[in-house]
Amino acid sequence: MAATDQTEPGEGVLEIMDSSLQKPRSMPELIRKKRDGDRLEEAEIRSFVQGVTEGTVQEAQIGAMLMAIRLQGMDLAETEILTRALAESGRQLQWPEAWGPLLVDKHSTGGVGDKVSLILAPALAACGCKVPMISGRGLGHTGGTLDKLEAIPGFSVVQSPEQMRELLEQAGCCIVGQSQELVPADGVLYAIRDVTATVDSLPLITASILSKKAVEQLSTLVIDVKFGEAAIFPSQERARELAQALVGVGARLGIRVAAALTTMDSPLGRCVGHGLEVEEALQCLEGDGPLDLRDFITQLGGSLLWLNGQAPTLAQGAAQVGATLDNGSALGRFQAMLEAQGVAPNLAQALCSGSPAQRQGLLPTAPTKEELKTTSEGTVEKIQALPLAQVLHELGAGRNKAGEPLHHDVGLELLVSIGQRVIAGTPWIRIHHRGPGLGPSHQRRLQGALTLSNAEPFLPEPCLRELILPPSMQG
Ligand code: URA
Repeated sequence: MAATDQTEPGEGVLEIMDSSLQKPRSMPELIRKKRDGDRLEEAEIRSFVQGVTEGTVQEAQIGAMLMAIRLQGMDLAETEILTRALAESGRQLQWPEAWGPLLVDKHSTGGVGDKVSLILAPALAACGCKVPMISGRGLGHTGGTLDKLEAIPGFSVVQSPEQMRELLEQAGCCIVGQSQELVPADGVLYAIRDVTATVDSLPLITASILSKKAVEQLSTLVIDVKFGEAAIFPSQERARELAQALVGVGARLGIRVAAALTTMDSPLGRCVGHGLEVEEALQCLEGDGPLDLRDFITQLGGSLLWLNGQAPTLAQGAAQVGATLDNGSALGRFQAMLEAQGVAPNLAQALCSGSPAQRQGLLPTAPTKEELKTTSEGTVEKIQALPLAQVLHELGAGRNKAGEPLHHDVGLELLVSIGQRVIAGTPWIRIHHRGPGLGPSHQRRLQGALTLSNAEPFLPEPCLRELILPPSMQG
């Protein structure tokens, strides 16, 4: 007997009529339909999302549907419907008409040490853009922008649409999370994907990212699609497929979306972990910080300004973004955003006007710091981000269950760079943790992340490898 025949009306039963049988389709039937590789109709996708939003679909059923989508995929039309349904699960943002052409945003598929949003949102605001960024929490082994910002005492990621408008008036940018009001269905799916091994799904990533961006009423969006050992999709080909889906569904939604394919084998910058990444972001906003990070931010921001018609070329856009980092205007926007999002003005000022030494103790600081040393001489060939992120996760920087608290003080600093020559016994990594000491398994996996070779010292390749333009700009 089919599961539908056994299901009582009520929880888990959706009011979708099966036209052939003239009876409501149950959630198990919808799951089975996708599980067996069939397309879901618009009403079926919308009903699933409505059930997720209203809490009438059980968590187990959501997990099963996500796994069915993960295994069977969705075509572009299904993905577009899922995106629209997620976007419409909450309120739509509305802005003054004059802001229309200035509304831009960036998003990332997730990486290790990726603090780009913290720097680029205020830098773009300093270039005259309005950046209403709806961002995410950590997913899988990757860190989330919202978790990083919450390392700053007082910072609130929950803001109503009305508050977001005030934030954009005051600071030109804001970084907020999904809430009961904003894309609530994505909030539910995102948290469940994180704990059901359904993160690496092309339609789920596409719908998750673009639903948040669709409610922002953007003019232009650049998405950083990462590939490599520590990315959601290791291969460049698969990442390109995701990029094409994002650009294609974006165009169907009327957003000018470009996708940057970027490498994610080694951490971006020198720091990984929430509090440490905020500190590194502040250094970059002061015109300092690691060159790979600054270079990437100016390239990504430059492409956004160029695509949005605010710079004649990508290079000139990059120079504009670089100037905001050097002249303090991006830092000023960051400080304004912190204050507007709940950080005490004296703390925001102390964070944004002191040197790294003066900031000591203002951000969460772990009680124990432990350095590991190189065991031989050589050139740093590789620092694998994935094992580093996995160890930090186990030390408390990530979640194993949806909604679990995490430790903002846990993290690591890389003390050497790719391409650098080192002698045996050089400290190469400093782990910030809660003690007492790193166990043998952690030490072994961390040491295994470093590869030394006999090559001559070299300069690492920039991480941006390919820019996929929106259809309207493709030659
Ligand atoms: N960022 C999102 O918002 N969603 C994803 O699925 C991946 C990255």
